[in-house]
Amino acid sequence: MSTAKKEIKRITTHILQTLKEQGEKISMLTAYDYSMARIVDAAGIDIILVGDSASNVMAGHETTLPITLDQMIYHAQSVIRATERAFVVVDLPFGSYQGNSTKALNSAISIMKESGAHAVKMEGGSEIEDSVIRILSAGIPVMGHLGLTPQSIYKFGTYGVRAKEEAEAEKLISDAKLLESLGCFALVLEKIPAELGSKVAQALHIPVIGIGAGDGVDGQVLVLHDLLGITQDFNPRFLRRYLNMYDLMKNAIEHYISDVKSGDFPNKEEQY
Ligand code: KIV
Repeated sequence: MSTAKKEIKRITTHILQTLKEQGEKISMLTAYDYSMARIVDAAGIDIILVGDSASNVMAGHETTLPITLDQMIYHAQSVIRATERAFVVVDLPFGSYQGNSTKALNSAISIMKESGAHAVKMEGGSEIEDSVIRILSAGIPVMGHLGLTPQSIYKFGTYGVRAKEEAEAEKLISDAKLLESLGCFALVLEKIPAELGSKVAQALHIPVIGIGAGDGVDGQVLVLHDLLGITQDFNPRFLRRYLNMYDLMKNAIEHYISDVKSGDFPNKEEQY
């Protein structure tokens, strides 16, 4: 029997670009901790996003705004330790890059140095141009994020579909082209009309990954806890739940409690 270790090839920006060129869809999911990231990586996901949605999903905040750079680095370190194949992208959190390109560069360097991640993601277009340029100039790959950008939720005032009106759609297209021309390796489009998603994906050479951006983009991303049905109170139209893990876990835990109370656990085989 061969003892040779199975060769696992790490996904790179180059491979992601090739997937777009070959018309193969890109799969992307969030993960924030070691145990979940191991499962996601073993399943063969292309990209793991250490999203600032950790602020909602892991910490219970109402928005993504409170999560800090150090907290993002902690999540990213745990995910990196778990992955062998996936390309790992980490969100730059709110306040760590807007309006100050030096601060942006330092934040991105901290993430890359302290976690070992492979790229950062940033929300916004022309408003963050200087920060994107500065980070790219340090050799750090940047993924853009347009459409519904949750770090600007208080500006939008709602989590509704973005860019339904022509002016906002035009701005989104021009921001997407700008981010590509600056050198971003990929772009996330969140909660926009499917037709606009297709238009952007066709106009850009880099991969465009959608979350609620229709089926005409180059790949899809979901929040892992939504897909698994761990979160219960988030039901946008774009979400497909593949499991009802909330009920599965609750039932298992109720069973355990009842076994402890009745004295059924541990039995004779479960002790020393
Ligand atoms: O933080 C996050 O999970 C994200 C995805 C929704 C794309 O940015």
